[in-house]
Amino acid sequence: MSTLRIEDLHVEVEGKEVIKGITLEVKSGEIHALMGPNGSGKTTLSLALMGHPKYKVTKGKIILDGEDITGLETHEKVRKGLFLAFQLPVEIPGVKLSTLLLAEYNRVHGINENVGTLLQKVREVVKRVNLGDSLLNRGVHEGFSGGEKKRAEILQMLILKPKFAILDEPDSGVDVDGLRMIGDSINQLLSENRTGYLIITHYRRILDYVKTDVIHVLNKGKLVATGGPELAKLIDEKGYEAITSSSD
Ligand SMILES: Nc1ncnc2c1ncn2[C@@H]1O[C@H](COP(=O)(O)OP(=O)(O)OP(=O)(O)O)[C@@H](O)[C@H]1O
Ligand SMILES: [Mg+2]
Repeated sequence: MSTLRIEDLHVEVEGKEVIKGITLEVKSGEIHALMGPNGSGKTTLSLALMGHPKYKVTKGKIILDGEDITGLETHEKVRKGLFLAFQLPVEIPGVKLSTLLLAEYNRVHGINENVGTLLQKVREVVKRVNLGDSLLNRGVHEGFSGGEKKRAEILQMLILKPKFAILDEPDSGVDVDGLRMIGDSINQLLSENRTGYLIITHYRRILDYVKTDVIHVLNKGKLVATGGPELAKLIDEKGYEAITSSSD
């Protein structure tokens, strides 16, 4: 059983404090959703968790299984089992998707598996996320459609089998089949690997496919509400106004 704990986290971006003291804890096998209006700081929180140099933690801690990992670099956090699926995945021309997947797999799992065996594994997962094999030979996300990028992120997650996955709007821009596939993938890793999740979303739809334990609502850098699935229903029906107006 693993625990990812965020303790009174404050994050500054370009000299401005965006995250203003967030505390939350995700355990293995739990699904937490993070919702909140545009610009409330959801992506900032996820990038700070992964150690993006622009997103500076000015106060508070990120603790993984009792170890303070706040100051670690991104690749060290990945090796310790954290994973982020980006809201806007960036194109990395010149690095083939297959090369990235093989390198990541070997690095994270600390082994040097035979390339042929590994490629076979990767191909199976590629089929599972409904991407064409040819995408493996293109630069990472290079010329991928919006939905293909999102699927490729889920592909990476399935290969890496992280302890904790932060998914920043995995449902934006994917078609209905994609949404179901993402839900199934989340559930599969949860049962096989006890992966814990922090899923950032604006919509209730994705939460219909997975069993969400807790929903957190972020507004202006602070958590303003925590509850069960009924919170997503309330937001869907009444908008954030119903929750955030009392916290202004
Ligand atoms: N690199 C940056 N430079 C300047 N400001 C930034 C940067 N990154 C984030 N911000 C600011 O921080 C605030 C929070 O942005 P963030 O992307 O975290 O919001 P969000 O909750 O993810 O919104 P959305 O729902 O639109 O994705 C915004 O006001 C944004 O302009
Ligand atoms: Mg965002």
